[in-house]
Amino acid sequence: MAKLARSQFVCQSCGHVEPRWLGRCPDCGAWSSLHEQTPVRAGSGWPAGALGTASPPQLLRAVATDPVPRLRTEIGELDRVLGGGLVPGSLVLLGGDPGVGKSTLLLQALDRLAARGPVLYVSGEESTQQVALRAARLGSAAERLYVLAETSLERILGEAERMRPHVLAIDSVQTVHSASLQSIPGSVSQVREAAGRLLSFAKTQGMPTLLVGHVTKDGALAGPKTLEHVVDTVLAFEGEPGHPYRILRAAKNRFGSTQEIGVFEMRGGGLSEVQNPSEALLAERPVGAPGSVVIASAEGTRPILAEVQALVASASGLPRRTALGIDPNRVSLLLAVLERRAGFDVLTQDVFVNLAGGVRLDEPAVDLGLLCAIASSASGRVADPQTVVFGEVGLAGEVRAVTLCDVRLAEAHKLGFRRCVLPEANRARIEGAPPIELLGARDLRSALEVILG
Ligand code: TYD
Ligand code: MG
Repeated sequence: MAKLARSQFVCQSCGHVEPRWLGRCPDCGAWSSLHEQTPVRAGSGWPAGALGTASPPQLLRAVATDPVPRLRTEIGELDRVLGGGLVPGSLVLLGGDPGVGKSTLLLQALDRLAARGPVLYVSGEESTQQVALRAARLGSAAERLYVLAETSLERILGEAERMRPHVLAIDSVQTVHSASLQSIPGSVSQVREAAGRLLSFAKTQGMPTLLVGHVTKDGALAGPKTLEHVVDTVLAFEGEPGHPYRILRAAKNRFGSTQEIGVFEMRGGGLSEVQNPSEALLAERPVGAPGSVVIASAEGTRPILAEVQALVASASGLPRRTALGIDPNRVSLLLAVLERRAGFDVLTQDVFVNLAGGVRLDEPAVDLGLLCAIASSASGRVADPQTVVFGEVGLAGEVRAVTLCDVRLAEAHKLGFRRCVLPEANRARIEGAPPIELLGARDLRSALEVILG
């Protein structure tokens, strides 16, 4: 997307920004959809100093780099993903599929935050009674948690200005609408207007503001994509239907890493933090079954051991592929590598793969374990249940090094695994005595020989 320039034209249908007027949006192709937007004048809206705009140029090395103050939610998994807690004046977007648990997580966090000051929860989707019922189910007892069932942006801002809560939350941004615009609630221009005004409100008041946003089928936040560019932090809440585990990730974070993840379990009384996701994910693992391999994944500082399961069956007609928890395109590519580089006849067969427990892992280190599981199912040979596998696999069938090797090994050791098959390049760089037996692999074929015996 183009950077916001002095004179800008914004597409009302997709949010694309152009420096000059065009008859047709070059991004989404809509005709006559570019509308001029008045540029923000210095001093209007943005608080002096919040972005440093009101001060003269400073020597970079003389700028104070004190740690950003944080307001902790006291939900450890959430605070870690936020980078240590909420930053004053920041705008945080919490996105996810309907029913994943966004409102539940938000209410639990607000409940804790309300122990230290007044908190305003604006619900545009549920009545105050519905919110109260949910709060009772979650065991909420906060004295200073206020709820407002409202969708008018002007009224929400008015109440927030009058009340001055120390945290403001809006569930969901798609329900909010401004009287200053003609368009219907939930439209691109309404959502952008709401986010823009809430942003400048959050910055002027120094009030951390949380917005819930729904995600459309293709994974984009409904409404303007520009919402993701407006806010400081985008959190994505993920989970597979029918599974209790939920993963919180930061897709964008101006105040922290985007590598950290938070793991929760949805229970009858709300979301509970999962301190040891590996143990939870491996609890029901079938030992000694073909097609089951334990992989060591790592995101941020957080290692996750998970079981990848594969089932290869003869196809009747066009071969089918199903992948749950792993990118299906990656699976297709790796199947071709398995056939061409290791001689397994899988391209003509039905292949189903699943990350047990309903989690989603999107990192290349999963490749080797995934291929081992598929090869194990195809050949009927069982992978050693005491062995953990990780490594990226390239198109030539080479096993490539991955990051965070020590974190993965420590977790495998902690859970009692005795062996680890890992990229040789990683093994060669390990210093000191590793806690478990290491088998370095250079290519897929030799790795499969070691793992499947
Ligand atoms: P919700 O937070 O309403 O999801 P979202 O706001 O993302 O649409 O959560 C909805 C689901 O969570 C619903 O299917 C019921 C379930 N749930 C529990 O299992 N336990 C609970 O304590 C709560 C509050 C909800
Ligand atoms: Mg909700």
